[in-house]
Amino acid sequence: MASRFPAPPTAIFPILALNFLIISNSIASSSEKPTDDAAAAAFFIFGDSTVDPGNNNYIDTVPGNRADIPPYGQSGFASGPTGRFSNGRIIVDFVAMYAKIPVVPPFMNPSSRYRHGVNFGSGAAGVLPETNQGKVIDLRTQLKQFDKVVSSLSVELGDKEARILISNAVYCISIGSNDYLSGYLSSPEMQERFGPEEFVGMVIGNLSETIQELYLKGARKFIFPSLCPLGCLPALRAVNPKADGSCFEEVSSLALAHNKALSAVLISFNHIFKGFKYAFTSGFYSWFHELVHNPSQFGFKDGINACCGTGPYGGVYSCGGDKEVKDYTVCEKPEEFVWWDSFHGTEMSAQLISKTMWDGPPEWVAPYNLRQLFFETGKERIEDLVDEEDGVEPLAV
Ligand SMILES: *[C@@H]1O[C@H](CO)[C@@H](O)[C@H](O)[C@H]1NC(C)=O
Repeated sequence: MASRFPAPPTAIFPILALNFLIISNSIASSSEKPTDDAAAAAFFIFGDSTVDPGNNNYIDTVPGNRADIPPYGQSGFASGPTGRFSNGRIIVDFVAMYAKIPVVPPFMNPSSRYRHGVNFGSGAAGVLPETNQGKVIDLRTQLKQFDKVVSSLSVELGDKEARILISNAVYCISIGSNDYLSGYLSSPEMQERFGPEEFVGMVIGNLSETIQELYLKGARKFIFPSLCPLGCLPALRAVNPKADGSCFEEVSSLALAHNKALSAVLISFNHIFKGFKYAFTSGFYSWFHELVHNPSQFGFKDGINACCGTGPYGGVYSCGGDKEVKDYTVCEKPEEFVWWDSFHGTEMSAQLISKTMWDGPPEWVAPYNLRQLFFETGKERIEDLVDEEDGVEPLAV
């Protein structure tokens, strides 16, 4: 891994109203201590195309929100395209593998079982219901689907076993890019109504509510992949008005502001919600900057161009030939590319990222890495032990 990170671009700092953090003491202290040291045996996934395993194959949407045709999925991981926005596996596939859990199935597939978790991710989805409305399964709807899964698990396992499964499970929420790219930057009305900081505050406010709701339903262990420098996506590099081949920094700054605001929320949740444990990839943004600018350090040849697409940097989103622009080419060696299509990484990128998330150092993923989150559930942090021994109530705002 790169040891030095380049200075991040100028950021905008959202001012957040933290009053949505209020929660009553009785709820906050009702959490149960994990009963054993067993590995988390279930993995629940929420989010967008970064995690969609094929849910959008089942909904009414536009071709750009689906990845169900070749060359998607050509790496040989499955017999053909699965709906994953990649040439093969995505980050959560590798994470499940490291956690020794079967591949987490799409919720929308009626034959999916829930014992080891299920994946609600939907390509193009946002935190806000307005983002790509009507063409995606938004985060709020994904949460409703989770309720159905909980009911079904209670019937299958009994209430007590289901509760244990829910509280030992790991929850990944990977979402936000579409709120900025489609919901904000492609919407003159939204930009008219809200300044960038205000918009980031709204996204983070809604995301915080979702995290709290999951916590109240019994979830304890969370993974939050931070947003990458969005302006370095081939699609955004291609439309940078500077037209000098650089990343579109104004777009990246929204991602950076989002990450900072989310980090602040997570730190406060850590104080407020007893037993709340999380992995946040705080160093991911800078690391990704390094990856696209110095790909050879990481074993890649190309950090700029999409393997599959057309136009400058492969930035015209045409991979597969079923979208507005039909022309596209596919590179011969996707494993040498960071980017698979105009918006999404290759299987090789997913593997590199997931490995680092799995057992990376605290500069990269903190306060827990994924291995600790999945396998060291019995290990309490010092603050938690102090809480237990002194009977001190967790902080309330
Ligand atoms: C959630 O988003 C809506 C817009 O969809 C916004 O009106 C509301 O203020 C947001 N909630 C929070 C807590 O930020």
